[in-house]
Amino acid sequence: MTDRPHSPIQDPRVNAVIARLQGARQRPSDGGPRGASGSRDPHAYAGLGFSIHPEQGELIYLLCRGLRATRVAEFATSVGMSTLYFAAAIRDNGGGTVIGSEIVPAKVEAAKRNLAEAGLADYAEIREGDARKTLRDLAGPVDFVLIDGWPGEGGPSLAREVIEIVAPQLLVGGYVMNDNAEPDYLDYIRDPNNGFVSMTLPLKGGTELSLKVSEGCGPQSLARPDGQNTQPAGQRVAPKIFHFTEIRKRRMCRGNPAQGRGAYRDRHERGPDGGGR
Ligand SMILES: C[S@@+](CC[C@H](N)C(=O)[O-])C[C@H]1O[C@@H](n2cnc3c(N)ncnc32)[C@H](O)[C@@H]1O
Repeated sequence: MTDRPHSPIQDPRVNAVIARLQGARQRPSDGGPRGASGSRDPHAYAGLGFSIHPEQGELIYLLCRGLRATRVAEFATSVGMSTLYFAAAIRDNGGGTVIGSEIVPAKVEAAKRNLAEAGLADYAEIREGDARKTLRDLAGPVDFVLIDGWPGEGGPSLAREVIEIVAPQLLVGGYVMNDNAEPDYLDYIRDPNNGFVSMTLPLKGGTELSLKVSEGCGPQSLARPDGQNTQPAGQRVAPKIFHFTEIRKRRMCRGNPAQGRGAYRDRHERGPDGGGR
């Protein structure tokens, strides 16, 4: 079986790799990183995908086609299941890049092999290392972000840390999908001051889908008067991106933070090449 019934992806080569990865799914014997007794070290699970489900991937594909997405990012890549859906959409939109992140080197290699087998290697850049560093500078705005993370060791969840890093780099009108419903992530994404509207979809036991409608006006989004970034040292976004974001935020926050006149403007003002501002 290579083609899933009703899959929006028409390419049998891509569907064959997705079907193979689906068939190879395994459960961790120790309960996994979210279990009471499982290890939280990602390197202990180098052979396991923990991948998104086909329904989530197909929704990613459809939304990215609708957005005409050309640049997207994901935390994290694992063996590349979500990357395949993103890369297929980007290829079918005419070209672009999915920026992946993965801390386990063997998984980076597996993801690259899977993308190559699907004929999608040219549409993905997998950044090896801690996503809190590798996604700090996406080198331009992105249309879609997947937050499909990993449990931390206490303190803020990785999902929360990464959304705070990537949200300023997401275009207004872009989407974020989250798989694991980390409570502090949900607190952030559902707070209208952060510029998102959000709903929980009945996919894989609850998938949070959020639309960025403004740059947000919450305390975490405010810059110091001297223009310096107020985010903690480990989470600073690139100065160029911070500059874009800050100008638009100041414009937006003079009015209604959640529905300012600038909402959606970014997507509509993009040039014919789908490029950034
Ligand atoms: C749920 S899986 C991602 C599944 C992937 N989206 C897919 O559909 O195949 C989470 C991944 O996060 C990786 N990971 C854990 N901590 C990380 C970190 N700090 N930076 C980057 N990747 C990390 C793990 O190794 C694991 O592969």
